[in-house]
Amino acid sequence: MRTLKELYSLEGRTALVTGATGNLGKIICDTISELGGSLIIIDIGDVDSLAAKISDKFNNNVTPLKLDLSDLDQINSKLPHIFSSIESLNILVNNAAFVGSSNLSGWNTSFLNQDIDSWNAAINLNLTAPFLLSKICTPMLEKATGSSIINISSIYGQLGPNWQLYEGTSMGNPAGYASSKAGLNQLTKWLSTTLGPKIRANSISPGGIYRNQDRRFIDKYKDKVPLGRMAVEEDFKGIIAFLSSDASSYVTGQDLLVDGGYSAW
Ligand SMILES: NC(=O)c1ccc[n+]([C@@H]2O[C@H](COP(=O)([O-])OP(=O)(O)OC[C@H]3O[C@@H](n4cnc5c(N)ncnc54)[C@H](O)[C@@H]3O)[C@@H](O)[C@H]2O)c1
Repeated sequence: MRTLKELYSLEGRTALVTGATGNLGKIICDTISELGGSLIIIDIGDVDSLAAKISDKFNNNVTPLKLDLSDLDQINSKLPHIFSSIESLNILVNNAAFVGSSNLSGWNTSFLNQDIDSWNAAINLNLTAPFLLSKICTPMLEKATGSSIINISSIYGQLGPNWQLYEGTSMGNPAGYASSKAGLNQLTKWLSTTLGPKIRANSISPGGIYRNQDRRFIDKYKDKVPLGRMAVEEDFKGIIAFLSSDASSYVTGQDLLVDGGYSAW
């Protein structure tokens, strides 16, 4: 029987992480690197300097790819090229997304002002891109060992927003966000039964992560969380390590809520 250290090791494994330069993306990359994994990092942000920082810190291979995941043609044309330069792909983390606070017209506003363009943009980036990436990565993942797809979802893929939390703030919770994440949860389950036993597929649903939000929101939100606080980035290291590695080798088709118990009432 392997030790826990051996089960959590990602030595010799490679992960593709989208939204890598974002808040959670950086933690995902650090976690996989800390366990010995190599990375392909995708974002519309500055992937080159992030790749340099990670490989300086962890001495691993990090391949940057600046890519707009809303552009499905770009995904189709650029990814196979990257794959030709790596030996194997073991992990796919679909993390990039339009989030509640994204600066998108017709998005973070009242229901009647949410428009079809922002809805379509969210479905495209948050759901269609993970579908396409999963498809493109499947042949590589099928050949590799310990293969795992991790979709970063949200509690709002399962729960409706509690509007009392938002009263008196300019914060919103768009229908397109929740609906895209609910779709991602179902895509995860669908992938788990379709791609097993070679590839596992799970999602992680974070609760609200502290980002210096409106004080009124934070205070009300904390009161709804059994653990009494919003999440911080470090809270996700454990679950990423678990789902990326053989520590979770008998777990597939699950949505793991990392929400301090927000959904437990
Ligand atoms: N922040 C929260 O409270 C929270 C809660 C639940 C779930 N989540 C989920 O966690 C994930 C990460 O969120 P975050 O809070 O780190 O957000 P973030 O905005 O910090 O990171 C998102 C990243 O995605 C990238 N991105 C956006 N559009 C892109 C595109 N078209 N092509 C390529 N990359 C693109 C951005 O550049 C950014 O680096 C998301 O899936 C989000 O839905 C966050």
